[in-house]
Amino acid sequence: MYTLAIESSADETAAAVIRDGVQVVSTVVASSTSMHRKFGGIVPEVAARAHLTAIIPTIEQALDDARLQIHNIDRIAVTHGPGLIGSLLVGVEAAKTIAVVTGKPIVPVNHVLAHIYTNFAGRQRVDFPVVALVVSGGHTELYRMDSHARLTWLGGTIDDAAGEAFDKSARVLGFANGGGPAIQEAAKQFTNHNSQFPVKLPRPMIHDETYNFSFSGLKTAIMREWKKHTNDQTPTTDNKQLTAMFAHEIQEAITDVLVAKAVRAAVQAEAKMILLAGGVAANIRLRDKLRASLPQGAELMYPPVPLCTDNAVAIGIYAHYRGAPADVYSLTAVPDLSVEVQE
Ligand code: KG4
Ligand code: ZN
Repeated sequence: MYTLAIESSADETAAAVIRDGVQVVSTVVASSTSMHRKFGGIVPEVAARAHLTAIIPTIEQALDDARLQIHNIDRIAVTHGPGLIGSLLVGVEAAKTIAVVTGKPIVPVNHVLAHIYTNFAGRQRVDFPVVALVVSGGHTELYRMDSHARLTWLGGTIDDAAGEAFDKSARVLGFANGGGPAIQEAAKQFTNHNSQFPVKLPRPMIHDETYNFSFSGLKTAIMREWKKHTNDQTPTTDNKQLTAMFAHEIQEAITDVLVAKAVRAAVQAEAKMILLAGGVAANIRLRDKLRASLPQGAELMYPPVPLCTDNAVAIGIYAHYRGAPADVYSLTAVPDLSVEVQE
C-alpha cells in the first residue's frame, strides 16, 4: 500500500512516498526560504510562484527515489490547510489532478495536526494517552490524544507562535535570518553561568491555569533590555558574550513556558507519552528540559531534525491514521482550517 503525500502550505514544496502507513520510502523537500530572506518573512506571492515551479519536479523526484511510477500509488494525501491560499492551491490542484488521472482516492490533511504524526515514522507503537506539543513558526498548540480517533485541543498561542518569538528575537540580536537555530547556536557560547545575570526576561502566562501561550510581549521586553545594554545603538553581533547571554535567556524564557505547560498537561492527562513536533521541536534545550521534567512513567518522543520542519512524511502518515477520502471534485484549499479540534 503506497501513499503519495504532498505538502505546500507555506514555503516548502514537499512530496513523500509512504509504504504501509508509516514506512518512509522517499521524502523530498524544496524550499523557497532563501527567496524571502531580504523581506524578513514569507512573501505569499513569491512562495506560490516557487511552488508552481517546484511541485512537478518534487513529486517526480519522490516517485523516482521510491522507484515507483504514478500508477503504483494507491492513495494521494495532500495538505488542504491551514496555510497560505496561493501556496496551498498549488499542492491541492496537483494532488487532485493526479487523483483524477489515476482514479485513486485523495485524502485531505490538516497540516498542523499532521506535524504530530512525523513521530510515528517507521514505528507503529503508541501508548495512549498522549500529550502533543506542536511548536512551529506559525503555531504553538497543545493536544491530548486518547486514541488516534480522539484528539482534543487543549490550548494554543493567543498571539505570536514560539517559532515566531525565536525569529523576532534573533532579528533584535542582529541575526538577520537565522531564527531559532541562530539563537540556539549563540546560546551555546554562553558559559558564564555563575556571574550575576543582568538580563531577566518574563515567562509569559507560565502560571496561568489555561493551556494558552503568549509570546508577543517577550519581543518588547527583549528590545527594551537589549537597548539598555547596548546604549541604544544598532544591534550588532560584535559583542559575543552579551549576544550569547541574551540568546541564552531568550531560549530559557521560551522553553520554560513550553515545558511548564506541556508537563502540566501530561500530569493531568496521566500521559504515557509526550510528543514534540514542528520546527521548534529541533531545539536541543527544549528537548533536554522536557526530558528532565518528564512525569513518572511518561516517555518523550520527537522527530529527527529534518522531519521537525515542514515535510510531506507527516502528511502521508497522518492520512494513514486519521485521514478519510474526500470527493476529488469538491476538495479545495482551506487557508483558515481550524486546529482547535475536539474529536
Ligand atoms: O514547522 P516549521 O518549519 O514552519 C512552520 O510550519 O511554521 O518551523 C519553523 C520555525 C522557525 O520559527 C524556526 O526559527 C524554528 O522553527 N526553529 C527553531 C529551531 N529550528 C527551527 N527554533 C528553535 N530552535 C531550533 N533549533
Ligand atoms: Zn508546519
